[in-house]
Amino acid sequence: MISDNYPAGLYPLNDTLLGKFREEVLSGLHRKAKRLPSKYFYDKTGDMLFQRIMACPEYYLTNCELEIFQSKTADLAQIITSDNGTFDLIELGAGDATKSQYLLKYLSDQKASFTYMPIDISGNILSVLEKRLKDEITGLDVTCLEGEYFEMLRIAAELSGRRKIVMFLGANIGNMEPREAKEFCRDLRAHLAPGDLVLMGVDLKKHPKLIWEAYNDSAGLTSRFNLNLLHRINRELKGDFDPDQFEHYQTYDPGSGACKSHLVSLQDQIVTIGDSKIVFGRDESVFMEISQKYTLEEVDNLARETGFVPVYSCPDTKGWFVDAFWKAV
Ligand SMILES: C[S@@+](CC[C@H](N)C(=O)[O-])C[C@H]1O[C@@H](n2cnc3c(N)ncnc32)[C@H](O)[C@@H]1O
Repeated sequence: MISDNYPAGLYPLNDTLLGKFREEVLSGLHRKAKRLPSKYFYDKTGDMLFQRIMACPEYYLTNCELEIFQSKTADLAQIITSDNGTFDLIELGAGDATKSQYLLKYLSDQKASFTYMPIDISGNILSVLEKRLKDEITGLDVTCLEGEYFEMLRIAAELSGRRKIVMFLGANIGNMEPREAKEFCRDLRAHLAPGDLVLMGVDLKKHPKLIWEAYNDSAGLTSRFNLNLLHRINRELKGDFDPDQFEHYQTYDPGSGACKSHLVSLQDQIVTIGDSKIVFGRDESVFMEISQKYTLEEVDNLARETGFVPVYSCPDTKGWFVDAFWKAV
């Protein structure tokens, strides 16, 4: 739950999350093929940069999913409310609820009986979201849960035994390798009861150039977003990265559907984080984030292989993005 005790303007991680942050950063940087965990992109600056990425012309994902949530709101709401009971509408990695707010407003106007439970590792974005929803949707029952997906899902289950509808939007599932995504969906299924629903937002395979450009915006926002993690490590983990000595590099492989962000070291350098020293060679890359793309068939298969049945797929008019309902069996 969100605490009120943050110093002005800053949302540091709580002690548990900070310990995990340090552990995951150091273990990723001590690997032979270095990597950093992208879930830590989202501090206050990262949240602001991601909001700007969502609004930039190359990042088509937001407009596609917004179109679905604005034009198919009644269809989505009908599936959610089809059994007339009360429910918890849980959103994993809710961010600022740019898309889901349309559904929340519709359900609220229809007097559906539900609690909205946004889960996010960023306390900052949850505070932005909570304030905005309280201002804009009168009477909406909101319980913010700050932390990791499954830890917070467990708390959500302790708070209420109602039917669960879990939204995982914005192609967040794409930020996992396909093998991890399968494991994640199996874990998600294990946290649900038969009949519970998942609404999964997935970015679809399309012309490779469109995909590559979405992560190489001309304003350089994605580059800043990636480099911001180095600033965050400096500030929160006592690091001494020189972010000017790293460059963002993006790849997209149309065969596998893997779109990957890297940071490349521009010189031989040694970086200190707390008591640890990490050696970077010139041109050595650090893997930052995957944004995996799927076909509609692969999305259905993912559901079937992980304990769900696909019940309704709602693509945007261009066929670039899909929001798919899965039912837990
Ligand atoms: C790409 S943004 C998408 C936000 C929102 N779903 C949307 O579609 O606009 C990802 C969000 O998920 C959150 N997040 C990433 N990894 C997380 C994790 N392991 N547990 C909880 N939240 C996480 C981030 O803080 C961020 O707000």
